[in-house]
Amino acid sequence: MTAPTRRQKEAITASPLYIQGDIGLHQPKVSEGKPAVRLVSVEASVDMPPPASSQPAFVQRILGDATRVSSVIPAKSVDLIVTSPPYWQKRDYGHADQLGQEATPAEYVQALIGAMRDWKKVLKNTGSIFLNVGDTYHKRSLVGIPGRIEAAAVDDGWIVRNRIIWAKTSGMPEPAKNRLASRHEYIIHLVLKPNYYYDLHGYSQKYGNGSNPGDIWYVGLERDTGGHLAPFPSEIVERAITLACPYSVCSHCGTPLEREWKRTAELDESRPQARRAMQLALEHGLGPEHIAAIQATGITDAGKAKSYQNGTGRNSEEVQRLAKHAKKVLGGYFREFTFAKRVTTGWKACACGQGEMVPSVVLDPFVGTGTTLDVAARLGHSAYGIDLNPAV
Ligand SMILES: C[S@@+](CC[C@H](N)C(=O)[O-])C[C@H]1O[C@@H](n2cnc3c(N)ncnc32)[C@H](O)[C@@H]1O
Repeated sequence: MTAPTRRQKEAITASPLYIQGDIGLHQPKVSEGKPAVRLVSVEASVDMPPPASSQPAFVQRILGDATRVSSVIPAKSVDLIVTSPPYWQKRDYGHADQLGQEATPAEYVQALIGAMRDWKKVLKNTGSIFLNVGDTYHKRSLVGIPGRIEAAAVDDGWIVRNRIIWAKTSGMPEPAKNRLASRHEYIIHLVLKPNYYYDLHGYSQKYGNGSNPGDIWYVGLERDTGGHLAPFPSEIVERAITLACPYSVCSHCGTPLEREWKRTAELDESRPQARRAMQLALEHGLGPEHIAAIQATGITDAGKAKSYQNGTGRNSEEVQRLAKHAKKVLGGYFREFTFAKRVTTGWKACACGQGEMVPSVVLDPFVGTGTTLDVAARLGHSAYGIDLNPAV
């Protein structure tokens, strides 16, 4: 059996099980006689927590304006926003209220920042935005749209955590003769508060080899665009969800389920420095207690003590002695053990005791073909998708 094409998948996501409605004066209407929610299958993985509650994930596609999502989505109910807004003066989506056709870059940026101000109302304080934006050539010059968005976002109270480079492993031919073809776009990661939800460990396991995989994403374009001009690859959405969308949240207080982890003594053997560190440790007979001492003291021994604390806020004398010895024999390779691989030890739910754990919620305010809805549903999350235009 061949895999369904994007058009076939679209036919599924455009089914009446999705809510179709308007943003504005009234709530979206549920198609008569049809359930508002659809059941989704969840991918299993050893590192995933067990399903938390019997409440199924929902997917809602809403006809409406991205600048007014707060009129239909409950306040502070969204865990993650992943979206690709229209790029400045790139494509005409044929709707009077569309974003992207502003006369100047400054007006475009202000329109987008205005929309994001509305998203603040629905995004939880632990939430994130992953905004896929590209630059535009105007009068032969790059306009610098991504940088302008970042600067304006910071001025509007957002915290910019990463400018991820989406390096395209394939691309359309370009007619330009005196400049290089454009082969990258940006994914800007923005948050409201410093203590946002983030699962670097889960992401590293999926997309790296256990250590921090870095801010360049090599992702090819997906060929089957189902007639839509600008869908983004599903991997962009999957990476964002893996990084910054909790598996489940408390239905009462909204707190995300958090992964608990501990460091092991295992290093990334693909790195020559790590291999040398392991060799030195072996030669000098360093044991698990030395590795634990290294990890407890960190590189500077300042403010790192946790389970090895002796009650005074610093590491015990024995831990300091072990770490000192290890540092002496390992030299500069000492620090390799401070980023040894981590393993999941459990999952921590909130302590309010008044709710149950329910699927977390993803929003795409410029949902287009519904890539975000498909990926969110496949991974077991609830999702809202908004667009001025119905699904093609
Ligand atoms: C770049 S496309 C999104 C593509 C999408 N990521 C996908 O994978 O199919 C931008 C979408 O924004 C929609 N759009 C433009 N202005 C809008 C607005 N003010 N509110 C909601 N949607 C809008 C367009 O109709 C278009 O579908």
